[in-house]
Amino acid sequence: MKLTAIVGTNADFSYNRLLLQFMRKHFWQLADIEILEVSQLPAFTEDFDDLTAAEQTEVWRFKTAVNKSEGVIFSAPEYDHSIPAALKSAIEWLSYKATCLTDTPAMVVGVAYGTQASARAQEHLRQILASPDCSAYVLPGHEVLIGNVGKTFSDGVLSDPASIKNLEDNFVAFAEYATSINSMPSLQENSEMLKKPFISDAYITFPTGKLTLSQAQQIFSTIPFEVDLIDATDHFTWYSDKPNREHVRYVSELGEGVEECHPPKALPIVMKIINSFREGKSDMVQRPLMMHGHRTLIQYYALRDVDGRYLGTIEFTGSVENILRQFEAGAWPTTEEMAETGGVTPDATSGASTGGAPEGAGTAAADNVDDHGEAAANTGVADGPAIPRALAMNVDATSSASAH
Ligand SMILES: Cc1cc2nc3c(=O)[nH]c(=O)nc-3n(C[C@H](O)[C@H](O)[C@H](O)COP(=O)(O)O)c2cc1C
Repeated sequence: MKLTAIVGTNADFSYNRLLLQFMRKHFWQLADIEILEVSQLPAFTEDFDDLTAAEQTEVWRFKTAVNKSEGVIFSAPEYDHSIPAALKSAIEWLSYKATCLTDTPAMVVGVAYGTQASARAQEHLRQILASPDCSAYVLPGHEVLIGNVGKTFSDGVLSDPASIKNLEDNFVAFAEYATSINSMPSLQENSEMLKKPFISDAYITFPTGKLTLSQAQQIFSTIPFEVDLIDATDHFTWYSDKPNREHVRYVSELGEGVEECHPPKALPIVMKIINSFREGKSDMVQRPLMMHGHRTLIQYYALRDVDGRYLGTIEFTGSVENILRQFEAGAWPTTEEMAETGGVTPDATSGASTGGAPEGAGTAAADNVDDHGEAAANTGVADGPAIPRALAMNVDATSSASAH
């Protein structure tokens, strides 16, 4: 289970940070806990554009880490009977125009010097997390109130056996709670099932044939390219499920606005592409890129209905390593060889594509020629619609996952 743990103070030294560090080590077999610091963040402001690029990136990283986790642990000291302002500000980043905490399992813990052990701050934090814009699922009951740090910690490590036992009981309860919350259908899925009849098997009938729903799904899981869809309202609404994706996507990201699922640095170029598609100024933008040690091609296409109306943008990503290696090994004639033979060239392949070859012609003359009489090998990526130079990208304008 992947969890994030938020240090609820911006102090350089913090027992609450030490508690989370203890939890990360102590519970490593149960969960992979990533500790996040609120001190990295600028104070919350509605005017995101006023922040520096570095500040925007920190906010984006913080939100992305929480978004990708299966639960969040908050460890907060008590300041003036509430939580520190730095933590409140971080929660505002997570909740304002964002759904980072929505339906997310959350656990509240805390350490304090005194005997009251941050009890009032924890109560307040639970109220905040229950607000409509947060809507987190806070583990009910199960209080972790560690006071008297002089006795409960030694050499910066939680050492009091009773506190450790209480923490273990509560963390196991949280792990079970988070697992069951994460396996529940979302409110949106539930309400869609109420509104619409549920179809377990059906055909989609296209003008060119029909597919079952599972065939349609599995085609996307089988083709050696991955596809992501940003819909016409600029929301990430679908991705093809495929092993070893170049861009790792998460179901929790579905429904996010374009600005949520892209690093701020990449957002202007992404919006430029999308707007050029929406306005009908271009239909395709492509970008060769090295990813995970192999040559990859990312192509963005304008998705339009048969009348040309904009339906969204699809991102089509795949390794072209296999294709390029075959090309480099001479599987196809070069452009010069093609020119010499007038487009009709010996077939270097298996003959699997034969069709229409004259009797006796074998594979030598016709197999590598497409329906238009052109050599198939000549219909590479460069044959797509003209790509506006201005849209050539120097930043990875793709997913959150690739930005790390
Ligand atoms: C501005 C401020 C206000 C505080 N208010 C309270 C309080 O209302 N109740 C309390 O028990 N402790 C209060 N404290 C003490 C902190 O809760 C205590 O220092 C805490 O253990 C700090 O945790 P940390 O080591 O994680 O920073 C306050 C400390 C500061 C700096």
